[in-house]
Amino acid sequence: MTLPHIIAISGASGSGKSLFTETLCDELRQIDTDVLVLCEDHYYRDQTHLEMSEREKTNYDHPNAFEHELLAQHLRDLKAGKSIQYPHYCFKTHTRLQKLTEVTAHRVVVVEGILLLASPELMPLFDLKVYMDTPLDICLLRRIQRDLTERGRTLDSVAKQYEKTVKPMYHQFIQPCRHKANIVVTQGGKNRPALEVIKAHIRNTSKL
Ligand code: CTP
Repeated sequence: MTLPHIIAISGASGSGKSLFTETLCDELRQIDTDVLVLCEDHYYRDQTHLEMSEREKTNYDHPNAFEHELLAQHLRDLKAGKSIQYPHYCFKTHTRLQKLTEVTAHRVVVVEGILLLASPELMPLFDLKVYMDTPLDICLLRRIQRDLTERGRTLDSVAKQYEKTVKPMYHQFIQPCRHKANIVVTQGGKNRPALEVIKAHIRNTSKL
């Protein structure tokens, strides 16, 4: 079997990684490409042993919040043609869910997340690195809307978290990784030429 081609889609929280990934993968599937999506969010560390008040204090925008070593192991397993069981995460309870999902190796694996390019262990595993370069005010508006409707947050908690960790960690860890990307995408999921370039690259390099 051909080794999987692993693509990282990174960028700030609210930069449009999920929409871009979904659009890319839908279009790849339409041309019969076998593609698997993994989310870095699923690899947030398990905090079941901590009280809720403790979980709320965690800095979720620091690389240490993620079990990158498990994600790296899973990517190595997929590269070796093995199946993996990836975890699931709940943003309301700030911890892992009980369930695991087993997936087999696919031709293309797309991983999306804020700190993928900041991990020295993950970086060598990516065949293509994409950075979503979206203005921070747009990212913040999207984050507010999403956190209030989908993640059970209040406007006050979103504002406090943004000032305390989201914004400083973006400047310390996410934005400095922009230069490590092979492709920088402006205008998010609506950037049709960027999608076409990435699809062409995948077609040419993953021997589909
Ligand atoms: N986060 C949180 N509470 C947790 C775990 C994570 O608030 N218990 C937040 C972190 O602050 C981090 C964000 O979740 O900034 C990461 O998810 P994000 O990148 O915003 O979500 P995606 O939907 O993957 O990305 P995009 O908005 O770019 O599509």
